[in-house]
Amino acid sequence: QAPLPPLTRSPSPVSNGGGWGEPIGASPQFFLGGVTMGFDREKFDEIKAAFTIDDDALRKIADDFRADMCAGLAGKEGATLRMLRSYAGLPSGKEHGSFLALDFGGTNVRAQRILLKGSGEYEVLSRVAKPLTLPGVYDYVSADATAEELFDFLAAIIDEAIDGNRETKYLLGHTFSFPSQQTNLNNAKLIVWTKEFATQGVEGKVVNDLLKEALARRGMTNVVPVAVINDTVAVLLAAAYKHEHTYIGSIYATGQNTCYYEDFADGSEPPTVINMESGGFGHLPFSKYDDILDQESEQPGAQRLEKMVSGRYLGTLYGAALADLLGADGVYPFSSIELSEIITDAHLDRHAAGAVIEAKTGMTFTAAERALLQELATAVIVRSARIVAATYVAIIQHRMGENEFENQFVAVDGSVYEKVPLVAHHLRGALDTLLLDEAVNVKIILENAGSALGAALAAAMTTRK
Ligand code: GLC
Repeated sequence: QAPLPPLTRSPSPVSNGGGWGEPIGASPQFFLGGVTMGFDREKFDEIKAAFTIDDDALRKIADDFRADMCAGLAGKEGATLRMLRSYAGLPSGKEHGSFLALDFGGTNVRAQRILLKGSGEYEVLSRVAKPLTLPGVYDYVSADATAEELFDFLAAIIDEAIDGNRETKYLLGHTFSFPSQQTNLNNAKLIVWTKEFATQGVEGKVVNDLLKEALARRGMTNVVPVAVINDTVAVLLAAAYKHEHTYIGSIYATGQNTCYYEDFADGSEPPTVINMESGGFGHLPFSKYDDILDQESEQPGAQRLEKMVSGRYLGTLYGAALADLLGADGVYPFSSIELSEIITDAHLDRHAAGAVIEAKTGMTFTAAERALLQELATAVIVRSARIVAATYVAIIQHRMGENEFENQFVAVDGSVYEKVPLVAHHLRGALDTLLLDEAVNVKIILENAGSALGAALAAAMTTRK
């Protein structure tokens, strides 16, 4: 996944000399106990502590999240989880036929033609993928882009996936990965952009109406959009198509969000998958860096959990902490890929990690300092994984209620889960810590075909007799 453009400008280059053993030019405020340092060790410890969540605090997050789920389901004021009804059930596993899938909501848009063969089997017949932003060439997700431009771009990609065919009728499932208010499986209105998307004229609109208009402009009336689902729902459907006992689907990528199958045991509503928009959860122990990032973002006050955990923000959080540590104004614009590079460096002298940091800060550091800066990067990542784990625990416990614990799968997709070092490990660890004896019953599975396969399944499910 390519990084999106940085959230904030790079701070003015700061130079306060070198690190340990390189005293030349160090400013007096960086002298500690007679040793010249690139940064203050006490301050470092303080910053690292700001990113540390102990087990008790984590348990509290899980409890608060579970309470917010109930409040959100009941539509109570003050709930931070939207708990959006998807109007999707779970697939039977027998879905058959060829469908189009459009996947919109991350760095790339993808259109695929997928043949469902039943029993969890499928085949991708064609696939087209394009980035939504090509620096210097186009940017369909900035505030300068219009809905028409964006949806024309999507229609062109779909056109490529069907080789310009205007004869065959295709039912299209649309994975649209933003908070949407639905009245049925196909009617989804974008509530508000997240993940720093800002295209004009889409908020408040029925997204498949915009898509249908764009398809009509290209004469593609043989393509019929029939379902809109969130990417979390797509992951859940895709995983449930292959494995029974999958009730939770989650994305841990540019954005972070989770859905689950709610059976409304009290009979108050028909069972359905709920898109929680869990990135919006707001009762969390925020650090000063979370607040800085929030203030600089497109939608201050919104998506507070997402801004602590997802790929769109992890590098920026690190950049905010580092700027504070080094006495710079602003935020260094790290991407989560660069953060991964810093963490991956296992060499004793942390030379590769140092190179990434030095390129951004214009400062040089000793090997010992580089190791600390790597520790800080790790702390940002570990906090992310632990918070996400706490949300899974809350959902598992909510679903379980007073009942016996069930063996189950939690399906996860996304570049952060899949590619950022230590994330999967700490997610599992925190799950084990919080679930105790029940942890063995929960298997986390990677479902990385989810967004497209799920969309095809959603389209197929509309043809159920
Ligand atoms: C953001 C969106 C949400 C989506 C998630 C992952 O949180 O609001 O709808 O599921 O990103 O893409």
